Amino acid sequence: MEKFIVDGPVRLTGEVTISGAKNAAVAIIPATLLAQGKCVIENIPNISDVTVLFKILRGLGASVQMLDRTTVEIDTTYITEPVVPYELARYMRASYYLLGTLLTRCNRASVSMPGGCNFGVRPIDQHMKGFEALGATVSIDSGMINAQAEMLLGAHIYFDVASVGATINVMLASVKAKGITILENCAKEPHIVDLANFLNSMGADIRGAGTDVIKIHGVDLLHGTTYSIIPDQIEAGTYMVAAAATGGDVLIKNVIPKHLESITEKLEKAGAVVQEYDDSIRVTREGPLAKVNIKTMPHPGFPTDMQPQMTALLALAQGTSIVTEGVWDNRFRYVDELRRLGAQIQVDGKVAVVEGVSQLKAAPVRAVDLRAGAAVLIAAMTAEGSTEIEDIEYIERGYERIVEKLTALGAHVRKAIIPDHIFQEAL
Ligand code: EPU
Repeated sequence: MEKFIVDGPVRLTGEVTISGAKNAAVAIIPATLLAQGKCVIENIPNISDVTVLFKILRGLGASVQMLDRTTVEIDTTYITEPVVPYELARYMRASYYLLGTLLTRCNRASVSMPGGCNFGVRPIDQHMKGFEALGATVSIDSGMINAQAEMLLGAHIYFDVASVGATINVMLASVKAKGITILENCAKEPHIVDLANFLNSMGADIRGAGTDVIKIHGVDLLHGTTYSIIPDQIEAGTYMVAAAATGGDVLIKNVIPKHLESITEKLEKAGAVVQEYDDSIRVTREGPLAKVNIKTMPHPGFPTDMQPQMTALLALAQGTSIVTEGVWDNRFRYVDELRRLGAQIQVDGKVAVVEGVSQLKAAPVRAVDLRAGAAVLIAAMTAEGSTEIEDIEYIERGYERIVEKLTALGAHVRKAIIPDHIFQEAL
């Protein structure tokens, strides 16, 4: 078993470089199945969600080769059965993008129900609605989602909710569908635009990504391409919040400041100074933290994936902040962990009331999911004493070399490997 041990409090200073976007990578890697020819993808983040996808692609018969630390070459010329088993799909949400791509590539796909972070119910009805509108038959049987179509035909699809996953999956299924597909009420997150740009660089004809309406003219053939993934909005936002929470001074490099505007605005209200440059952003804070109210919304609103980290910061702000979760039913499970560190937070449904305290104190805590893990890590860096964080595999699903990056900023974070027999003896 592995843990992070964090000694605090620390003030983060220096420079950090942001990796490629996880949620773009997990869509673009499955999309390589649509290419006739090799794809070279640059700025790949070295995180466990990506490693699992490589494993899935290799299992399907693809060749996946790292050319250097952040560049991968994927050749999907030879594919065996379009089936993704439970053992691999269960590790991540994005495994369901294999449904859209394999359906396009093989006219049928069978993918185990996906895993991923637990925020309450995570339905996939909008994905199924989209596939069915394109002419596929979709069923769920013994935990497998099965989709098949003799031929995919363009359609006019109105999503009932703006879903990142459904927008991406249906885009993947319609890129070669005969005729025109119009998707309405689409999600507008930066990774949706990145996937559309990747597909267009392969010869697709997709317009309007990043707006409510996406128009796709089906093409017969997609060729290989070389493409560089955008920087990770949420990793960048996490370091911005960490800098502000620790009263630090951090230059965050390889970012797209436009993607960070909703985070910048709230951090400035909380008392941080944010300076934007072309592809970097500097966050400093000297004075006290001030209360701020937050409501998470689909892009361009404040991202739900930054809600836990921001709540950790507000736990130290003067006054009472209200944090409202507008995307997921149950994204406050981590609050119990922050309370263990001394935070004063009450949750009622989708609202958290955060009464700022002047100091947090170390305690044993868990990462209950990926961003929750980032939140406890930020809180631990501000807390007095030595905090041990368990279940860190969640954090490593989405943050590349986080110990190395934080250590370079002056944090005292180390990974401890506790031999399994010590736990067994304690049981
Ligand atoms: N929804 C439906 N039906 C569907 C799909 C979604 O009702 O068929 C609802 C969900 O229940 C939720 C809302 O729509 O209330 C939005 O869900 P969405 O489909 O947009 O989320 P997702 O695609 O499952 C992605 C990210 C999440 C991020 C959300 C929201 C990936 C791999 N995951 O999830 O990221 O929280 O969008 O922005 O892109 C993370 O990176 O930590 C993470 C969890």
